[in-house]
Amino acid sequence: MLDNLHAQITTCTNCSLHKLRTNAVPGEGNPKSGIVIIGEAPGHWEDVQGKPFVGRSGKLLDKTLNGVGLDRTKVFITNIVKCRPPENRRPSKDETETCSTYINQQLELMAPRVIMPLGNTAGEWLFKKYGLDWPGATKANGQSYEVSTLFGKLTILPAFHPAAILRNPNRTEDFQAVFTQLKALI
Ligand code: URA
Repeated sequence: MLDNLHAQITTCTNCSLHKLRTNAVPGEGNPKSGIVIIGEAPGHWEDVQGKPFVGRSGKLLDKTLNGVGLDRTKVFITNIVKCRPPENRRPSKDETETCSTYINQQLELMAPRVIMPLGNTAGEWLFKKYGLDWPGATKANGQSYEVSTLFGKLTILPAFHPAAILRNPNRTEDFQAVFTQLKALI
């Protein structure tokens, strides 16, 4: 089922981002892990490789996961928007809305126990989906939220986007602490 969905994503033409892409990026990792990490949209290297978080932000994400004894085979990593926006701009409302059919279906199929949205785009989208008010990435980092879904209890554990940590390394410890929390939930 997830494979079929990912095949659809790789050939999607629902919005104009498909015209500029090298590869769509459905996501990767263990869909049965119960843990889904969600970023904003692919950047340059993700577009080239068709894999999520393989550029500079991805290296920091890998290092931070490794720091708590996790890696990308023990979680599932994806993005709200599956194709790279030009110049890595923030995806538009329309692009996000159009593409959200895919993240919605992925979440239904994987039925995770824990979702970690990285940064404002993923945080805002996810909070809206579950009827919560998004307090902004700085306040949300490390605050866990419990929601009830058709599949049972879900914990939402937001963290800064790794790109924000690369720009502002003095938030590194706050960012790492959220991964310690994530590890404790597993
Ligand atoms: N930034 C994201 O939000 N997602 C990626 O896959 C890479 C960088």
